[in-house]
Amino acid sequence: MATWIINASAVNPVTGSLEKKHVMVSQGQVAIWLDGTERPDTEGCQVIDAMGKLISPGLIDMHVHLREPGFEYKETIRSGTQSAAKGGFTAIAPMPNTRPVTDTAETVRLVVEKAAHEGLVRVLPYAAITKNELGRELTDFSALKEAGAIGFTDDGVGVQNAQMMKNAMALAKSLDRPVIAHCEDDSLVEGAAVTEGAFARRHGLKGIPNESEAIHVGRDILLAEATGVHYHVCHVSTEQSVRLIRHGKSAGVNVTSEVCPHHLVLSDEDIPDSMDANWKMNPPLRTPRDVEACIRGLEDGTIDIIVTDHAPHSAEEKARGLERAPFGIIGFETAFPLLYTKFVRTGRWTLDFLLRRMTADPARVFGLPYGTLEPGAPADLTLIDLENEREVDPETFLTQGRNTPFTGWKLYGWPTMTMVDGEVVWTEQNGIESDTRGVI
Ligand code: DOR
Ligand code: ZN
Ligand code: ZN
Repeated sequence: MATWIINASAVNPVTGSLEKKHVMVSQGQVAIWLDGTERPDTEGCQVIDAMGKLISPGLIDMHVHLREPGFEYKETIRSGTQSAAKGGFTAIAPMPNTRPVTDTAETVRLVVEKAAHEGLVRVLPYAAITKNELGRELTDFSALKEAGAIGFTDDGVGVQNAQMMKNAMALAKSLDRPVIAHCEDDSLVEGAAVTEGAFARRHGLKGIPNESEAIHVGRDILLAEATGVHYHVCHVSTEQSVRLIRHGKSAGVNVTSEVCPHHLVLSDEDIPDSMDANWKMNPPLRTPRDVEACIRGLEDGTIDIIVTDHAPHSAEEKARGLERAPFGIIGFETAFPLLYTKFVRTGRWTLDFLLRRMTADPARVFGLPYGTLEPGAPADLTLIDLENEREVDPETFLTQGRNTPFTGWKLYGWPTMTMVDGEVVWTEQNGIESDTRGVI
């Protein structure tokens, strides 16, 4: 049965203003758009009244941690994709630092099959560059690609050996797949938990220097130039990385990059002196100068896309304190409201700009057929309430993780309905939530 979504607000990309629209979805695809002044013929169709909510292509998150297989106590494919749907995401790319590491065709297939059965959104897995992410031996790229891996990464750790990285890039290039890099030189990090900056100095802590990230960025851009691979830099957090990527792009290297919401809205100076581990992630919150450099990098296209690096951990793990707890914070359910509230409502960005960096741009960078609602495109979309302010309450989250520094923040821009392939996978109406399996 076809579905009409009536009375939605769509951004006009030319004028930037919101316009009332009706859209029909049929057989999993966007069929017809009507102007708000026209009357759709809804006879025999399901009707969803958007009541003025923003309609956007489903958000795409190219860097997430779903934790399955192996760490189901942190997150599962089911809970992670529920959380993604609630955050307005319709396609997500999980990292391979699972247990076992997603380094064989068998494990890639397991993720793909579980996601098909239990997932609410599209799951596009990456596979590891090296076996067990140990940096010693390359995985079987061609078998991993065959099994459904969309790219190769050892996210969680940096590939320390330059020759290993170069070999990986040459292989990925021959298979027409990207290499995605967590950039971190271990010899410069030495177990530090926060960035070199005001917070580390105040507490007498060793800091993670900016060069530990940027050295890998610089090295890998040179290796990408030599091999011709599409090289994508994970979670850019430093001024130096932005500078190197800008230079690499201007030299014609096939380099793209991403940034996380927390690196755009928080600096190390925001970390509370209580040493709460919900402010610990890798890369760490950097200095205000780095934050501004990342924002500018995103604005001028040096940084192509926004990703969450959604990284759930258990309450017990995060209770170990800033120095001993694992790195990572959750991100799906706060990403859009944070950026909308902090950058669009304040007038720094247009809504169209923010949406592009979370939809059309990730689709472009990774060659995905999503991120647009042109007629004929897959009907992956989300409705978002731009008008009502709500406090961030982790108890309402669908992720199993509660590890967020944003508790209590008052934000606008909460998704209310998410559709994948023409099916409503999650919705919240009158405060009652349901997904494809009923009331949550
Ligand atoms: O904060 C992080 N968490 N950074 C990483 O690189 C890994 C991730 C995780 O797996 O928890
Ligand atoms: Zn990482
Ligand atoms: Zn990650």
